[in-house]
This record gives sequence, C-alpha cells and structure tokens, in this order.
Amino acid sequence: MTARILQAGFHLLRYLPPERAHDLTLAALARGIYQAASPANQATQSFSVLGMDFSNPIGLAAGFDKSATALTGLANLGLGFIEIGSVTYHPQRGNPRPRLFRLPADRALINRMGFNNDGAQVVRTRLAHWREHKPASFVRIGVNIGCNRDCEDPAQNYADCAGMLADLADYLVINVSSPNTPGLRELQRPDDLRRILWVVRERCRAAPLLIKIAPELDEADLTSIIRFITEEKLADGLIIANTTTVRPAHLHDHNAHQAGGLSGAPLAARASALLVWVRQHFGDELVLISSGGIMNATDARARLDAGADLIQLYSGFVYGGLELLIDLQNLDYKKQKNPRH
Ligand code: FNR
Repeated sequence: MTARILQAGFHLLRYLPPERAHDLTLAALARGIYQAASPANQATQSFSVLGMDFSNPIGLAAGFDKSATALTGLANLGLGFIEIGSVTYHPQRGNPRPRLFRLPADRALINRMGFNNDGAQVVRTRLAHWREHKPASFVRIGVNIGCNRDCEDPAQNYADCAGMLADLADYLVINVSSPNTPGLRELQRPDDLRRILWVVRERCRAAPLLIKIAPELDEADLTSIIRFITEEKLADGLIIANTTTVRPAHLHDHNAHQAGGLSGAPLAARASALLVWVRQHFGDELVLISSGGIMNATDARARLDAGADLIQLYSGFVYGGLELLIDLQNLDYKKQKNPRH
C-alpha cells in the first residue's frame, strides 16, 4: 500500500479510543502493511554501538510492541532497532481500561497500562520464530524486562525473565522506572538495583545490559548509580528516560489530570537535560539511549548532537505517523557533531 493511503488511514485512527487505535496499528503492522520506501538509505549508514552494527540510530521505544507480535511489520518500517516489552516473567493483564489517554493539545500521552504482556515464555517462542524466519532485515531487537506486580523477590523475577530471553536479544533492558507498577521505581535505589543487576548478570552474560531510568532521578542518585555500575561493570548503558509522573504547569489538555506516566513533547526538556548532564559528567563510559519527547526529525538530530548514541520514539510515532518515519529516513545520521564511534 502506498504511504499516502496509509497516512490517510493513520489520521483516521485518532477518532478511535487510543488503545483500540494502538491495537489496530499493531495488527496492521503484523500483517506487513507497510515497507519503508528507501531501505537503501539504511544499508549505507551502518555504524557500531554496543559492539554491533545498527543500520541507523532511530528505534521504537518499549511499550509499543510489548509481546513481540509485529516484529516483521515493524522491521519493515526502516527502523534501526525495536525494543520489545516490557516483558514480565509471568503474563499479566495490566490495569483496568481505560489506561491510555491522548493529550493532543500538548502533543503528549498518559498511560497506566501496568505491564500488560503475554509473559516471557510466549514472547520467547515468538522471538525464536522471528529469528529463525526473519527477512533479510538488519534491525536490532532489544528486550525490555519488567517485574511482575505481585512478585516477592524482584531480583529473582527480573533474572528469571532475563534468563528466558537473553539469548534471543541484541540487548537487554532492566526497567526500574515505570510509574505504573507500585514500588517499581524504588528499585532504582542503589542497593536494590545493585542486587538486581548482580542476579541478572549471574544468570545471563550473553547480551549487553542497559538500565532504563526515570526522569525524576536527581543528579545525586544518578551519580551513585553510574558510579557503581561502571566500577563493578554491571551494565553497559542507560536509557534516559521513561515516562514522568510530574505534570508541568503548562499542560492544558483536559486529560492532563489522568494518573500514569506522561510522555511526548512535555518530557523533552527533562529527558534532554539529563542526557546532556550524564554525557558531560561521565564522558563515553556508558552507551546512552535517549527517549522522551522526540517528536520530529529536528528533535532527533538535536538529541544525537547532545550525545545520544541511539534514540527511541513512542509518542512521536503516535502523532507523526508515516510522515515522521519518512523524515527520519532522510536524516543524515553520520553528521553527528560529536561522533563517538
Ligand atoms: C510506554 N513506555 C514504556 N517503557 C518501558 O520501559 N516499558 C513499557 O512497557 C512501556 N510501556 C509504555 C506504554 C505506553 C502506552 C507508552 C506511551 C509508553 C515508555 C516509552 O518506552 C518511552 O520511554 C516514553 O514514552 C518516552 O518516549 P516518548 O513517548 O516521549 O517518545
């Protein structure tokens, strides 16, 4: 199908409830509805991060394809990488609906999905099938791991999930920053995080490991985390950042009061400032993936120039659709101001 027809269909999705629109998009992608117009662009720009080649630095952030149901269709979009998850060891239904809200006046979303996903065993089967039959696509797959809501030993729960999926992942992410599982973000406390990383590392050393942090972390907490993960070699990088529970005063959409994590344009300033701060203070010690409020090609360029090795989008795709994808494909990624690789 041509990009123009698809873009028209995409505009109609906004008249549906957001979760319904999301499910339809995923189902359409799973059926291979769209293929990027210029795959040649990808082949000419490959570069290395985390010890592997990426065709380009633009990725789909976690939460869009939580259970790896649409990998082939997503791979056809011309993205450099797709992060599936958050996957939990046991399947979960997530929070009651409605749990996803559009804030068009603020170009934002609020979600309180609560890690609805099919669980590690089912996702393993899908990933294994995809790896076996995948088209000649060059997309990298990150696996983002969350903690089951009712688990008693988070470190063990993360490790069980990581152990199930690590050999099929190009990289793993420990998500300790979703605001929608009670107590999860407290696992960013150095002692808790250190234990999780040790137990996960003991179980699987196969894939590079990243930690996804909350944008509310202050510089002191972030410094302690970065110190121990680099000194003890417990992780390879950070994803900066997850959604925020903070509601900036300038929001004016009627959905701004909804509980959950805010993403999209209002998150850009904080996500960007944290990225710059970590890069300035810790140099090239860690791989940094930037996530939060990248809504167009200019934002993408700016985030790479600010020191991101890779960038990820979610809300930007919801508001920008295929037009944004096409713009991103036309970016010259190699023209980074401060290339590190
Ligand atoms: C998310 N995000 C997310 N992150 C994560 O680590 N695990 C998850 O399961 C989810 N789920 C999820 C669902 C929905 C509906 C949204 C909108 C977001 C957070 C996401 O990966 C990303 O970090 C933030 O949305 C910020 O990026 P954007 O949306 O501003 O580009």
